[in-house]
Amino acid sequence: MDVDSPASRTALGAAAHRARHQLLDGGSVFEDPLAVAILGVPEDELLAGGSDWRMRFFVCARQRYAEDLLADAVARGVDQLVVLGAGLDTFGYRNRYPGLRVVELDHPATQAWKRERLAAASITVPASVTHAPIDFEGDPLLEVLAGHVDLDRPVLFWWLGVTPYLTTEAVVATLTALGTLPHSAVVLDHAAPNPDATPESRAWHDARRARVAALGEPWLSQFAPAELAALLQTCGYDEVHLADEVDLVRRLLGRPRSTESRVTHLASAAKGWPRAAGAQAVRS
Ligand SMILES: C[S@@+](CC[C@H](N)C(=O)[O-])C[C@H]1O[C@@H](n2cnc3c(N)ncnc32)[C@H](O)[C@@H]1O
Repeated sequence: MDVDSPASRTALGAAAHRARHQLLDGGSVFEDPLAVAILGVPEDELLAGGSDWRMRFFVCARQRYAEDLLADAVARGVDQLVVLGAGLDTFGYRNRYPGLRVVELDHPATQAWKRERLAAASITVPASVTHAPIDFEGDPLLEVLAGHVDLDRPVLFWWLGVTPYLTTEAVVATLTALGTLPHSAVVLDHAAPNPDATPESRAWHDARRARVAALGEPWLSQFAPAELAALLQTCGYDEVHLADEVDLVRRLLGRPRSTESRVTHLASAAKGWPRAAGAQAVRS
């Protein structure tokens, strides 16, 4: 692991989108009472320079998607959440589910910076939250997790805003490891090729690509949705759902389906997942 790597700048960017969403949109897609506080930036400074609405809504929609799946998982009795590449995610610090353990995995530099931010904002780290360092490019994920969660019982994994920054090999290795667990579910987003993108959409994505590369966090992998679904199935996940970022935002905002081109996509998958309370076993 490269312990000298700096804290993630893209994590700061995602957190700023969540904070601006509270201020500009009243949290219409996703409410986070800690989003502004964890940044420690005055509101006027946060809003100076404008905000890319498309990115803002997508970052918030993926978080809402993940938190809705968590609510469903908790209703099924799941009490372990692992946030892979947590960045400045605040869920663990506003967790309203008694008994839910939250484990955050990330690069150590980003975790150290997050602890500083939490302390500066007087946000208490509850006993239900633990932090574990990892580099997805090579560290043994299950060994890292073993000290923090019971891998024989159901675990929900969030992997938001991380896969584009990893090599294809690291994404495959991570999903393969998670797929060996008897009861696991994962929510992730991923970049995807979009040959039909309009010139305007292509220019927007090229600008994003250049911006994150300039921050030292280039996009390294992409998967077509069908390719990702096949990978999840190969890893042992039998319930695979693909969600579309643009339509998700529209649905959450109560707007009609859109024809905008999309490049980033969401997926969720589960195996050995507990049935919802009251659900009957399906006989084949
Ligand atoms: C765009 S941020 C997303 C953070 C958070 N999930 C969110 O949605 O706000 C990407 C995160 O992935 C982490 N990350 C990127 N590459 C990583 C690697 N090889 N190992 C561990 N973490 C990594 C970064 O430290 C950062 O926290």
